[in-house]
Amino acid sequence: MRRLYLFITLICLVRSDTEETCYSFTRLSFPSAVVGTELNVKLILYTRRNLTCAQAINSTAFGNLNVTKKTTFIIHGFRPTGSPPIWMEDLVGGLLSVEDMNVVVVDWIRGATTVLYNHAASKAKKVATVLKEFIDQMLAKGASLDDIYMIGVSLGAHIAGFVGQKYNGQLGRITGLDPAGPLFSRKPPQDRLDSGDAQFVDVIHSDIDALGYREPLGNIDFYPNGGLDQPGCPKTIFGGMQYFKCDHQRSVYLYLSSLRENCNITAYPCESYLDYRNGKCVSCGIPQKEPCPLLGYYADHWKDSLKGKDPLMTKAFFDTTEKKPFCMYHFFVDIITWNKNVRRGAITIKLRDKAGNTTESKIDHEPATFQKYHQVSLLARFNQDLDKVSAISLVFSTGSVIGPKYKLRILRMKLRSLVHPERPQLCRYDLVLRENVETVFQPILCPKLQM
Ligand SMILES: *[C@@H]1O[C@H](CO)[C@@H](O)[C@H](O)[C@H]1NC(C)=O
Ligand SMILES: *[C@@H]1O[C@H](CO)[C@@H](O)[C@H](O)[C@H]1NC(C)=O
Ligand SMILES: *[C@@H]1O[C@H](CO)[C@@H](O)[C@H](O)[C@H]1NC(C)=O
Ligand SMILES: *[C@@H]1O[C@H](CO)[C@@H](O)[C@H](O)[C@H]1NC(C)=O
Ligand SMILES: *[C@@H]1O[C@H](CO)[C@@H](O)[C@H](O)[C@H]1NC(C)=O
Repeated sequence: MRRLYLFITLICLVRSDTEETCYSFTRLSFPSAVVGTELNVKLILYTRRNLTCAQAINSTAFGNLNVTKKTTFIIHGFRPTGSPPIWMEDLVGGLLSVEDMNVVVVDWIRGATTVLYNHAASKAKKVATVLKEFIDQMLAKGASLDDIYMIGVSLGAHIAGFVGQKYNGQLGRITGLDPAGPLFSRKPPQDRLDSGDAQFVDVIHSDIDALGYREPLGNIDFYPNGGLDQPGCPKTIFGGMQYFKCDHQRSVYLYLSSLRENCNITAYPCESYLDYRNGKCVSCGIPQKEPCPLLGYYADHWKDSLKGKDPLMTKAFFDTTEKKPFCMYHFFVDIITWNKNVRRGAITIKLRDKAGNTTESKIDHEPATFQKYHQVSLLARFNQDLDKVSAISLVFSTGSVIGPKYKLRILRMKLRSLVHPERPQLCRYDLVLRENVETVFQPILCPKLQM
């Protein structure tokens, strides 16, 4: 009997030895952060073979990594508490859902975990050296630099830049998700991510006034909501931890939404956020012109539009909603007025479709100026894309509480979708808006010839 037990135990030992052991991200506790941690870079491979069971790999053991496929490295940033990034699983799954590739999670949590940000930041170049050694082995086995893609979050974005620099910018692509600003701002290109670090560098800046980097760093730099404060994030310290990281982390969630959601976030190349809000940057939305850049995974479709640009840098702006899928739908509201005197004010426009869905846009970032017989084109951003609009409502407001109430005499109002210019444009003629009074009407199709 005893011998039988021993036998079974032995079998089990042998079995568990040959069975796949799944590897997971290092999890440290807060006390490790207090004492600080030595750098130890681990590479964790995920493939479509098994989406949940990861393999530990290194320059001598490649596991299931197939060098003929695209390889995406995900590099996290500073970890002040030692916990793994909560978005990591989603990002890995999202990437594997859109393309059959190798996803290598760069776990440098031992190193990134410390309460002292400057200690973590000082290890960035060493992490890059480890990655270079690994990629050299991939190349030796037949991989191509063109197929290497790095997604770096915060400090991780600069690490990706350092790796790219070691290959003289020949890596396929780097995406920087709110690259870290503190200790990196105003550093020369060799000490941070820059547009020369890969064949294509796209960057999302979501927290330029705190943890992120203000200036453009890539070939295309996306500034959601202007890059400052993200909708839905706490504005005061009473928001707890979210107050510190919500804006910064939004860049990751915006990128994720490009993998997971059924709407694409369109961005508009522009000099400034204000110009974008004022509707001055929509040439990419016009048919036969270059397409507008898309945020996230598909941003590299826009790479060809870079050709002939000097310098090879573009800033792109767009607004988002406060939660996923984050997409907003852009329309133009063209208004021609015939008031004798100039009128200044904000316009709120509401749309309703036959099913009863409504969506609203306030155009109040600065007063619009209405001049007799001049067309004013206002950029309206809606949370929903209503295709068959059956009713429109408009409110005109000067914002003043005292003083006379004004009227806005509209000769013609026109509503046109920016993303779907092929859709019929909606018009309304001869309308008087009394200040702060909602005016509802049914639009008609605009005459065809009118542009
Ligand atoms: C993935 O790995 C886990 C753990 O080894 C296993 O239970 C699961 O069946 C695997 N899934 C697939 C699809 O192979
Ligand atoms: C690489 O990984 C293999 C398998 O996990 C392990 O046996 C080996 O010691 C590792 N090599 C190095 C240099 O870490
Ligand atoms: C590696 O990927 C290539 C291209 O996708 C495929 O043809 C090949 O069969 C793969 N090799 C292995 C060992 O899975
Ligand atoms: C988003 O854009 C990509 C790339 O152009 C395209 O393949 C995909 O179908 C688009 N998704 C939606 C919902 O429009
Ligand atoms: C409009 O409302 C219907 C029914 O309430 C809903 O199923 C549909 O998804 C809505 N459409 C949009 C564009 O939100």
